[in-house]
Amino acid sequence: MEIPAMASKKLPCRPEMFDFEGISMTHFFTDNWEKVKNFQARPDDILIATYPKAGTTWVSYILDLLYFGNDVPECQTSQPIYVRIPFLESCFQEFSTVAGTEMADNLTTSPRLIKTHLPVQLVPKSFWEQNSRIVYVARNAKDNAVSYFHFDRMNMVQPEPGDWNHFTEKFMKGKNVFGPWYDHVSGWWEKKQTYSNLLYLFYEDLVEDTGREVERLCSFLGLSTSAEEREKITKGVQFDAMKQNKMINHVTIPFMDFKISPFMRKGKVGDWKGHFTVAQNEQFDEVYKQKMKNTTLKFRTEI
Ligand code: A3P
Repeated sequence: MEIPAMASKKLPCRPEMFDFEGISMTHFFTDNWEKVKNFQARPDDILIATYPKAGTTWVSYILDLLYFGNDVPECQTSQPIYVRIPFLESCFQEFSTVAGTEMADNLTTSPRLIKTHLPVQLVPKSFWEQNSRIVYVARNAKDNAVSYFHFDRMNMVQPEPGDWNHFTEKFMKGKNVFGPWYDHVSGWWEKKQTYSNLLYLFYEDLVEDTGREVERLCSFLGLSTSAEEREKITKGVQFDAMKQNKMINHVTIPFMDFKISPFMRKGKVGDWKGHFTVAQNEQFDEVYKQKMKNTTLKFRTEI
């Protein structure tokens, strides 16, 4: 099968991280920065914003099915999700791929679904000016950290994660690509208080009742999808179905090593319990309390 946006070439080594506009980044997300900054959003664009590993692909696929599931069935099987929903700030020149901004400009579908991991302060200003709709997904810090650790292990265009202990230290210091989890989730939460075209979802709610969250999405987007269609979509986006789907499970990406970890790994709430030691957990809770003391954002306490 031909993958339109990627040539198969391996990277020689992992990228370095550096400080960019106050957050840690790699060159893959800054090389095209002028074009990202000046990206022209449209009023009907839908931006899917997340901290990495919070459920981006899940919500992307739900939106893709809600908008295009019936009209363009061939796209469900012939184009990977990362082609259908461009990753705005990405620029993987080494792999001869088209930059995210260009992919978004080339989209012929309407509305355009666009993905970003940028913290709220770095989102191109045209999204605010155009009052584009935004769906943000947040995931509890501990599971998010675990998922990010395994992702960095298997994704050769991410910095070397080190061992789990090293990674948790890095996470607590906010030294991951796209910056501190704490500032990301709380920054977007604050934005939601003043920007009404933003729906803030939680990964844990999606796990608890996917159908209910699909309904919330429909009502936010003003979609009059039938209960039957919603049910079909809800079934199609369950973890096992997505894991089997080659257009979703990222197996077409040449720089991911699936022998180390699958992209669709576990899809669980509370997986952190098998990773954190008692000492790590106590330290993490302490740092969490400090970093999150000024926000009204609350995650479920039972996690
Ligand atoms: P795990 O590594 O914990 O399994 P992103 O798309 O932002 O990179 O997030 C990936 C995470 O979302 C992975 O978490 C993946 O398994 C999980 N995920 C994706 N689709 C899911 C689904 N349908 N149900 C539950 N989790 C899902």
